[in-house]
Amino acid sequence: MSLYVYVEPDEARRTEVGPAFREVGCTMLTSMADLETHLPRYPETILVILGATVDLGEALMFTAYQRLQRPLIGVVLIRRVIEPQVVLECLRSGVREIVDEADNDGLRAATVRSVDLSKALSSTLRGTAEQAPYARVITLFAGKGGCGRSMVAANLAVALAGGARRVLLIDLDLQFGDVAIMLRLSPDRNIAGGLSMSGRLDEPGLRSIISSHRTGLDALLAPPSPAEGERVSREFIVELLDVARPLYDYIVVDTPAVVTDQVLAALDMSDWFIPIVTPDLPTLKSVRLTSEMFDLLDYPKERRLLVFNRANTQVGLTPQDVEEAVGMPFAVQVPSSRDVPVSVNQGEPLTMTDPMHPVSRAIRELADRCSGVTTEPVKERKFFGIRRPAK
Ligand SMILES: Nc1ncnc2c1ncn2[C@@H]1O[C@H](COP(=O)(O)OP(=O)(O)OP(=O)(O)O)[C@@H](O)[C@H]1O
Ligand SMILES: [Mg+2]
Repeated sequence: MSLYVYVEPDEARRTEVGPAFREVGCTMLTSMADLETHLPRYPETILVILGATVDLGEALMFTAYQRLQRPLIGVVLIRRVIEPQVVLECLRSGVREIVDEADNDGLRAATVRSVDLSKALSSTLRGTAEQAPYARVITLFAGKGGCGRSMVAANLAVALAGGARRVLLIDLDLQFGDVAIMLRLSPDRNIAGGLSMSGRLDEPGLRSIISSHRTGLDALLAPPSPAEGERVSREFIVELLDVARPLYDYIVVDTPAVVTDQVLAALDMSDWFIPIVTPDLPTLKSVRLTSEMFDLLDYPKERRLLVFNRANTQVGLTPQDVEEAVGMPFAVQVPSSRDVPVSVNQGEPLTMTDPMHPVSRAIRELADRCSGVTTEPVKERKFFGIRRPAK
Protein backbone atom coordinates (compact mmCIF):
# COMPACT_ATOMS: atom_id res chain seq x y z
CA MET A 1 0.00 0.00 0.00
CA SER A 2 1.25 3.42 -0.78
CA LEU A 3 -1.20 6.28 -0.39
CA TYR A 4 1.23 9.18 -0.27
CA VAL A 5 4.25 9.93 -2.44
CA TYR A 6 6.83 12.69 -2.24
CA VAL A 7 9.11 13.29 -5.22
CA GLU A 8 12.26 15.09 -4.08
CA PRO A 9 15.24 15.12 -6.45
CA ASP A 10 17.30 17.27 -4.06
CA GLU A 11 19.37 14.89 -1.95
CA ALA A 12 20.00 17.36 0.88
CA ARG A 13 16.28 18.12 1.28
CA ARG A 14 15.51 14.40 1.06
CA THR A 15 17.90 13.67 3.89
CA GLU A 16 16.42 16.52 5.92
CA VAL A 17 12.69 15.80 5.59
CA GLY A 18 12.62 12.22 4.25
CA PRO A 19 12.54 10.40 7.61
CA ALA A 20 9.56 12.43 8.89
CA PHE A 21 7.59 11.72 5.72
CA ARG A 22 8.50 8.03 5.68
CA GLU A 23 7.39 7.85 9.29
CA VAL A 24 3.83 8.65 8.21
CA GLY A 25 3.85 6.04 5.45
CA CYS A 26 4.86 8.38 2.62
CA THR A 27 6.95 6.84 -0.17
CA MET A 28 9.98 9.01 -1.05
CA LEU A 29 10.97 9.04 -4.73
CA THR A 30 13.85 10.83 -6.39
CA SER A 31 12.51 11.59 -9.86
CA MET A 32 9.40 12.03 -11.99
CA ALA A 33 10.46 8.94 -13.96
CA ASP A 34 10.26 6.92 -10.75
CA LEU A 35 6.83 8.39 -10.10
CA GLU A 36 5.68 7.25 -13.53
CA THR A 37 6.54 3.63 -12.74
CA HIS A 38 5.30 3.88 -9.15
CA LEU A 39 1.72 5.03 -9.80
CA PRO A 40 0.42 2.13 -11.92
CA ARG A 41 1.62 -0.22 -9.21
CA TYR A 42 -0.03 1.73 -6.44
CA PRO A 43 -3.38 2.87 -7.87
CA GLU A 44 -4.57 3.65 -4.35
CA THR A 45 -2.26 6.71 -4.23
CA ILE A 46 -4.17 9.86 -3.23
CA LEU A 47 -1.44 12.41 -2.57
CA VAL A 48 1.59 13.38 -4.64
CA ILE A 49 3.91 16.04 -3.22
CA LEU A 50 6.33 17.46 -5.79
CA GLY A 51 9.51 18.97 -4.33
CA ALA A 52 10.83 22.43 -5.15
CA THR A 53 13.51 21.10 -7.52
CA VAL A 54 11.05 19.19 -9.71
CA ASP A 55 10.94 20.98 -13.07
CA LEU A 56 7.83 23.19 -13.18
CA GLY A 57 6.87 22.24 -16.74
CA GLU A 58 7.11 18.53 -15.91
CA ALA A 59 5.09 19.03 -12.73
CA LEU A 60 2.31 20.85 -14.56
CA MET A 61 2.18 18.33 -17.38
CA PHE A 62 1.98 15.48 -14.89
CA THR A 63 -0.81 17.21 -12.97
CA ALA A 64 -2.90 18.01 -16.02
CA TYR A 65 -2.60 14.40 -17.20
CA GLN A 66 -3.43 12.86 -13.83
CA ARG A 67 -6.46 15.13 -13.40
CA LEU A 68 -8.11 13.03 -16.12
CA GLN A 69 -6.44 9.67 -15.52
CA ARG A 70 -6.55 9.52 -11.73
CA PRO A 71 -8.75 12.33 -10.43
CA LEU A 72 -8.38 11.10 -6.84
CA ILE A 73 -4.74 12.10 -6.75
CA GLY A 74 -4.15 15.52 -5.24
CA VAL A 75 -0.93 17.25 -6.27
CA VAL A 76 0.75 19.54 -3.74
CA LEU A 77 3.57 21.51 -5.33
CA ILE A 78 6.47 22.94 -3.31
CA ARG A 79 8.38 25.96 -4.70
CA ARG A 80 11.18 28.15 -3.40
CA VAL A 81 9.67 31.30 -4.89
CA ILE A 82 5.97 31.63 -5.59
CA GLU A 83 5.24 34.07 -8.39
CA PRO A 84 1.70 35.06 -9.42
CA GLN A 85 2.26 33.73 -12.95
CA VAL A 86 3.27 30.33 -11.56
CA VAL A 87 0.20 30.23 -9.31
CA LEU A 88 -1.99 30.92 -12.32
CA GLU A 89 -0.38 28.12 -14.36
CA CYS A 90 -0.74 25.75 -11.41
CA LEU A 91 -4.42 26.53 -11.08
CA ARG A 92 -4.96 25.91 -14.79
CA SER A 93 -3.31 22.49 -14.71
CA GLY A 94 -5.13 21.38 -11.55
CA VAL A 95 -2.46 21.58 -8.83
CA ARG A 96 -4.43 21.49 -5.56
CA GLU A 97 -2.01 23.48 -3.42
CA ILE A 98 1.22 25.39 -3.93
CA VAL A 99 3.43 25.83 -0.88
CA ASP A 100 6.62 27.69 -0.02
CA GLU A 101 9.48 25.27 0.73
CA ALA A 102 10.26 27.05 4.00
CA ASP A 103 6.66 26.88 5.21
CA ASN A 104 6.33 23.53 7.03
CA ASP A 105 3.03 24.48 8.68
CA GLY A 106 1.65 25.48 5.30
CA LEU A 107 2.75 22.14 3.83
CA ARG A 108 1.12 20.25 6.66
CA ALA A 109 -2.18 22.09 6.22
CA ALA A 110 -2.08 21.68 2.42
CA THR A 111 -1.54 17.91 2.63
CA VAL A 112 -4.39 17.55 5.14
CA ARG A 113 -6.78 19.48 2.90
CA SER A 114 -5.77 17.52 -0.18
CA VAL A 115 -6.04 14.12 1.53
CA ASP A 116 -9.45 15.03 2.97
CA LEU A 117 -10.67 16.14 -0.43
CA SER A 118 -9.44 12.92 -2.10
CA LYS A 119 -11.17 10.80 0.51
CA ALA A 120 -14.43 12.68 0.11
CA LEU A 121 -14.13 12.38 -3.67
CA SER A 122 -13.30 8.70 -3.39
CA SER A 123 -16.47 7.83 -1.47
CA THR A 124 -18.56 9.87 -3.89
CA LEU A 125 -16.98 8.29 -6.94
CA ARG A 126 -16.87 4.78 -5.64
CA GLY A 127 -20.29 4.52 -4.07
CA THR A 128 -19.87 0.88 -3.16
CA ALA A 129 -16.70 -1.14 -2.81
CA GLU A 130 -17.92 -3.34 -5.65
CA GLN A 131 -17.47 -0.51 -8.12
CA ALA A 132 -13.78 -0.01 -7.35
CA PRO A 133 -12.04 1.18 -10.52
CA TYR A 134 -9.28 -1.37 -10.23
CA ALA A 135 -9.40 -5.10 -9.66
CA ARG A 136 -8.49 -6.32 -6.23
CA VAL A 137 -5.61 -8.72 -6.51
CA ILE A 138 -5.92 -11.84 -4.34
CA THR A 139 -2.81 -14.01 -4.11
CA LEU A 140 -2.82 -17.50 -2.63
CA PHE A 141 0.33 -19.08 -1.35
CA ALA A 142 1.73 -21.92 0.75
CA GLY A 143 5.32 -22.83 1.39
CA LYS A 144 4.76 -26.51 0.52
CA GLY A 145 3.30 -28.27 -2.49
CA GLY A 146 -0.02 -30.09 -2.45
CA CYS A 147 -1.76 -27.92 0.19
CA GLY A 148 -4.72 -27.15 -2.05
CA ARG A 149 -3.69 -23.74 -3.43
CA SER A 150 -4.86 -24.46 -6.95
CA MET A 151 -8.08 -26.07 -5.76
CA VAL A 152 -8.90 -23.08 -3.56
CA ALA A 153 -7.81 -20.59 -6.28
CA ALA A 154 -10.03 -22.16 -8.95
CA ASN A 155 -13.04 -22.45 -6.63
CA LEU A 156 -12.54 -18.96 -5.21
CA ALA A 157 -12.39 -17.49 -8.72
CA VAL A 158 -15.58 -19.34 -9.70
CA ALA A 159 -17.31 -18.21 -6.48
CA LEU A 160 -16.32 -14.57 -7.10
CA ALA A 161 -17.43 -14.73 -10.74
CA GLY A 162 -20.85 -15.91 -9.52
CA GLY A 163 -21.97 -12.39 -8.65
CA ALA A 164 -21.67 -11.14 -12.26
CA ARG A 165 -18.26 -9.81 -11.30
CA ARG A 166 -15.43 -9.70 -13.79
CA VAL A 167 -12.81 -12.15 -12.55
CA LEU A 168 -9.43 -13.17 -13.92
CA LEU A 169 -7.61 -16.22 -12.56
CA ILE A 170 -3.86 -16.16 -13.25
CA ASP A 171 -1.76 -19.31 -12.95
CA LEU A 172 1.66 -18.17 -11.75
CA ASP A 173 2.81 -21.74 -11.18
CA LEU A 174 4.69 -21.21 -14.43
CA GLN A 175 6.45 -24.59 -14.39
CA PHE A 176 3.70 -26.97 -13.29
CA GLY A 177 0.48 -24.98 -13.32
CA ASP A 178 -2.74 -26.94 -12.78
CA VAL A 179 -5.42 -24.33 -13.44
CA ALA A 180 -5.97 -25.56 -17.03
CA ILE A 181 -6.69 -29.07 -15.72
CA MET A 182 -8.85 -27.85 -12.84
CA LEU A 183 -11.06 -25.84 -15.21
CA ARG A 184 -10.75 -28.26 -18.16
CA LEU A 185 -9.38 -25.55 -20.43
CA SER A 186 -7.03 -26.02 -23.36
CA PRO A 187 -3.62 -24.48 -22.55
CA ASP A 188 -3.12 -23.30 -26.16
CA ARG A 189 -3.64 -19.72 -25.04
CA ASN A 190 -1.30 -19.06 -22.17
CA ILE A 191 0.89 -16.47 -20.53
CA ALA A 192 3.90 -17.26 -22.74
CA GLY A 193 1.86 -16.13 -25.76
CA GLY A 194 2.11 -12.60 -24.38
CA LEU A 195 5.91 -12.51 -24.20
CA SER A 196 6.28 -11.15 -27.74
CA MET A 197 4.13 -8.18 -26.63
CA SER A 198 6.24 -7.52 -23.57
CA GLY A 199 6.78 -3.79 -23.02
CA ARG A 200 3.77 -2.84 -25.14
CA LEU A 201 1.00 -5.13 -23.92
CA ASP A 202 -2.46 -3.61 -24.29
CA GLU A 203 -6.04 -4.76 -23.71
CA PRO A 204 -6.51 -6.58 -27.06
CA GLY A 205 -3.10 -8.21 -26.55
CA LEU A 206 -4.10 -9.42 -23.11
CA ARG A 207 -7.45 -10.68 -24.36
CA SER A 208 -5.67 -12.68 -27.08
CA ILE A 209 -3.95 -14.86 -24.46
CA ILE A 210 -6.89 -15.26 -22.08
CA SER A 211 -9.18 -18.32 -22.00
CA SER A 212 -12.85 -18.05 -21.09
CA HIS A 213 -14.49 -20.50 -18.76
CA ARG A 214 -18.18 -21.28 -19.02
CA THR A 215 -18.86 -19.71 -15.62
CA GLY A 216 -17.91 -16.33 -17.11
CA LEU A 217 -14.52 -16.45 -15.45
CA ASP A 218 -11.39 -15.55 -17.48
CA ALA A 219 -8.17 -17.49 -16.99
CA LEU A 220 -4.60 -16.72 -17.89
CA LEU A 221 -3.01 -20.15 -17.96
CA ALA A 222 0.55 -21.28 -17.33
CA PRO A 223 2.59 -22.40 -20.35
CA PRO A 224 2.33 -26.13 -21.09
CA SER A 225 6.12 -26.60 -20.89
CA PRO A 226 8.26 -25.60 -17.87
CA ALA A 227 10.98 -24.14 -20.14
CA GLU A 228 8.57 -21.54 -21.47
CA GLY A 229 7.65 -20.56 -17.93
CA GLU A 230 11.26 -19.58 -17.27
CA ARG A 231 11.06 -16.88 -19.92
CA VAL A 232 8.34 -14.98 -18.04
CA SER A 233 9.97 -12.11 -16.16
CA ARG A 234 8.92 -10.21 -13.06
CA GLU A 235 8.53 -7.07 -15.22
CA PHE A 236 6.12 -8.90 -17.50
CA ILE A 237 3.94 -9.89 -14.54
CA VAL A 238 3.82 -6.25 -13.40
CA GLU A 239 2.88 -5.21 -16.93
CA LEU A 240 0.19 -7.90 -17.14
CA LEU A 241 -1.36 -6.85 -13.86
CA ASP A 242 -1.19 -3.17 -14.82
CA VAL A 243 -3.13 -3.89 -18.02
CA ALA A 244 -5.58 -6.31 -16.35
CA ARG A 245 -6.49 -4.30 -13.25
CA PRO A 246 -8.78 -1.77 -14.90
CA LEU A 247 -10.58 -4.57 -16.78
CA TYR A 248 -11.60 -6.77 -13.85
CA ASP A 249 -13.17 -6.58 -10.42
CA TYR A 250 -10.99 -9.36 -9.00
CA ILE A 251 -7.76 -11.01 -10.05
CA VAL A 252 -7.02 -14.30 -8.28
CA VAL A 253 -3.41 -15.48 -8.48
CA ASP A 254 -2.41 -19.12 -8.00
CA THR A 255 1.28 -19.61 -7.15
CA PRO A 256 3.91 -22.37 -6.93
CA ALA A 257 5.30 -23.61 -3.61
CA VAL A 258 8.33 -21.32 -3.88
CA VAL A 259 8.23 -17.53 -3.70
CA THR A 260 9.67 -16.72 -7.12
CA ASP A 261 10.41 -13.25 -8.50
CA GLN A 262 7.17 -13.40 -10.46
CA VAL A 263 5.23 -14.29 -7.32
CA LEU A 264 6.85 -11.39 -5.45
CA ALA A 265 5.72 -9.05 -8.22
CA ALA A 266 2.13 -10.25 -7.76
CA LEU A 267 2.38 -10.06 -3.97
CA ASP A 268 3.64 -6.48 -4.20
CA MET A 269 0.45 -5.58 -6.06
CA SER A 270 -1.92 -7.65 -3.92
CA ASP A 271 -4.84 -6.45 -1.84
CA TRP A 272 -5.45 -9.80 -0.17
CA PHE A 273 -2.87 -12.39 0.84
CA ILE A 274 -4.27 -15.89 1.34
CA PRO A 275 -1.92 -18.33 3.05
CA ILE A 276 -3.15 -21.93 2.93
CA VAL A 277 -2.23 -24.46 5.58
CA THR A 278 -2.98 -28.11 6.07
CA PRO A 279 -2.55 -29.81 9.43
CA ASP A 280 1.02 -31.04 9.07
CA LEU A 281 4.07 -29.54 10.72
CA PRO A 282 6.29 -28.90 7.66
CA THR A 283 3.48 -26.88 6.03
CA LEU A 284 2.81 -24.95 9.21
CA LYS A 285 6.48 -24.12 9.58
CA SER A 286 6.79 -22.90 6.01
CA VAL A 287 3.69 -20.71 6.26
CA ARG A 288 4.95 -19.20 9.48
CA LEU A 289 8.30 -18.39 7.83
CA THR A 290 6.52 -16.88 4.82
CA SER A 291 4.35 -14.83 7.12
CA GLU A 292 7.44 -13.48 8.88
CA MET A 293 8.87 -12.55 5.51
CA PHE A 294 5.63 -10.67 4.78
CA ASP A 295 6.09 -8.74 8.01
CA LEU A 296 9.50 -7.66 6.78
CA LEU A 297 8.04 -6.67 3.43
CA ASP A 298 5.35 -4.64 5.25
CA TYR A 299 2.38 -6.47 3.71
CA PRO A 300 -0.55 -5.43 5.94
CA LYS A 301 -1.56 -8.03 8.51
CA GLU A 302 -5.26 -7.21 8.27
CA ARG A 303 -5.14 -8.13 4.60
CA ARG A 304 -4.09 -11.72 5.27
CA LEU A 305 -6.82 -14.35 5.34
CA LEU A 306 -5.59 -17.72 6.58
CA VAL A 307 -7.29 -20.75 5.02
CA PHE A 308 -7.14 -24.02 6.95
CA ASN A 309 -7.56 -26.72 4.32
CA ARG A 310 -8.46 -30.31 5.20
CA ALA A 311 -9.38 -28.90 8.60
CA ASN A 312 -11.19 -32.03 9.79
CA THR A 313 -8.28 -34.40 9.14
CA GLN A 314 -7.52 -36.30 12.36
CA VAL A 315 -3.74 -36.13 12.71
CA GLY A 316 -3.32 -35.11 16.33
CA LEU A 317 -3.26 -31.34 15.76
CA THR A 318 -6.18 -29.21 16.96
CA PRO A 319 -7.24 -26.05 15.08
CA GLN A 320 -5.84 -24.08 18.05
CA ASP A 321 -2.46 -25.81 17.63
CA VAL A 322 -2.49 -24.81 13.98
CA GLU A 323 -3.42 -21.18 14.67
CA GLU A 324 -0.70 -20.94 17.29
CA ALA A 325 1.91 -22.50 15.03
CA VAL A 326 1.13 -20.09 12.20
CA GLY A 327 0.67 -17.09 14.46
CA MET A 328 -2.69 -15.90 13.11
CA PRO A 329 -6.35 -16.93 13.32
CA PHE A 330 -8.21 -18.72 10.52
CA ALA A 331 -10.45 -16.81 8.16
CA VAL A 332 -12.09 -20.03 6.95
CA GLN A 333 -11.77 -23.77 7.44
CA VAL A 334 -12.19 -26.02 4.40
CA PRO A 335 -13.02 -29.65 5.22
CA SER A 336 -11.34 -32.63 3.61
CA SER A 337 -13.60 -34.46 1.20
CA ARG A 338 -13.15 -37.12 -1.44
CA ASP A 339 -15.40 -35.01 -3.67
CA VAL A 340 -12.49 -32.59 -4.08
CA PRO A 341 -10.12 -34.93 -5.99
CA VAL A 342 -13.13 -36.20 -7.96
CA SER A 343 -14.01 -32.64 -9.00
CA VAL A 344 -10.34 -31.89 -9.81
CA ASN A 345 -10.13 -34.98 -12.02
CA GLN A 346 -13.32 -33.98 -13.80
CA GLY A 347 -12.14 -30.40 -14.26
CA GLU A 348 -15.33 -29.12 -12.66
CA PRO A 349 -14.86 -26.95 -9.56
CA LEU A 350 -17.16 -27.92 -6.70
CA THR A 351 -18.38 -24.32 -6.26
CA MET A 352 -19.82 -24.68 -9.77
CA THR A 353 -21.26 -28.20 -9.63
CA ASP A 354 -22.32 -28.38 -5.98
CA PRO A 355 -22.66 -24.90 -4.43
CA MET A 356 -24.09 -26.30 -1.19
CA HIS A 357 -21.19 -28.71 -0.60
CA PRO A 358 -19.36 -27.89 2.68
CA VAL A 359 -16.16 -27.21 0.68
CA SER A 360 -18.06 -24.81 -1.64
CA ARG A 361 -19.65 -23.07 1.32
CA ALA A 362 -16.28 -22.53 3.00
CA ILE A 363 -14.81 -21.10 -0.18
CA ARG A 364 -17.81 -18.82 -0.71
CA GLU A 365 -17.23 -17.52 2.80
CA LEU A 366 -13.68 -16.71 1.73
CA ALA A 367 -15.03 -14.95 -1.39
CA ASP A 368 -17.35 -12.90 0.82
CA ARG A 369 -14.46 -11.90 3.03
CA CYS A 370 -12.49 -10.74 -0.01
CA SER A 371 -15.37 -8.84 -1.56
CA GLY A 372 -17.32 -7.50 1.38
CA VAL A 373 -14.83 -6.48 4.01
CA THR A 374 -13.27 -3.05 3.94
CA THR A 375 -10.56 -2.24 6.39
CA GLU A 376 -10.27 1.29 7.63
CA PRO A 377 -6.77 2.61 8.22
CA VAL A 378 -5.98 2.49 11.93
CA LYS A 379 -5.08 5.79 13.59
CA GLU A 380 -1.53 5.24 14.75
CA ARG A 381 0.09 8.60 14.70
CA LYS A 382 -0.36 11.90 13.07
CA PHE A 383 2.30 14.01 11.44
CA PHE A 384 1.94 16.55 8.68
CA GLY A 385 -1.72 15.77 9.12
CA ILE A 386 -1.23 12.35 7.59
CA ARG A 387 -2.23 9.28 9.55
CA ARG A 388 0.05 6.36 9.13
CA PRO A 389 -1.88 3.56 7.37
CA ALA A 390 -2.29 0.36 9.38
CA LYS A 391 0.33 -2.29 8.72
N1 LIG B 1 -10.09 -30.18 1.05
C1 LIG B 1 -9.61 -31.19 0.35
N2 LIG B 1 -10.12 -32.43 0.46
C2 LIG B 1 -9.62 -33.45 -0.25
N3 LIG B 1 -8.63 -33.35 -1.12
C3 LIG B 1 -8.07 -32.16 -1.30
C4 LIG B 1 -8.52 -31.00 -0.58
N4 LIG B 1 -7.77 -29.95 -0.97
C5 LIG B 1 -6.91 -30.40 -1.89
N5 LIG B 1 -7.08 -31.71 -2.09
C6 LIG B 1 -6.33 -32.57 -3.03
O1 LIG B 1 -4.96 -32.36 -2.82
C7 LIG B 1 -4.25 -32.39 -4.05
C8 LIG B 1 -3.44 -31.11 -4.15
O2 LIG B 1 -4.32 -30.01 -4.32
P1 LIG B 1 -3.87 -28.76 -5.18
O3 LIG B 1 -3.33 -29.21 -6.49
O4 LIG B 1 -4.98 -27.80 -5.16
O5 LIG B 1 -2.68 -28.24 -4.26
P2 LIG B 1 -1.50 -27.22 -4.62
O6 LIG B 1 -1.10 -26.61 -3.33
O7 LIG B 1 -1.90 -26.34 -5.71
O8 LIG B 1 -0.39 -28.24 -5.10
P3 LIG B 1 0.88 -28.00 -6.08
O9 LIG B 1 2.03 -27.79 -5.16
O10 LIG B 1 0.96 -29.26 -6.86
O11 LIG B 1 0.58 -26.81 -6.92
C9 LIG B 1 -5.29 -32.52 -5.16
O12 LIG B 1 -5.32 -33.83 -5.59
C10 LIG B 1 -6.60 -32.18 -4.48
O13 LIG B 1 -7.66 -32.91 -5.02
MG1 LIG C 1 -1.05 -25.88 -7.56
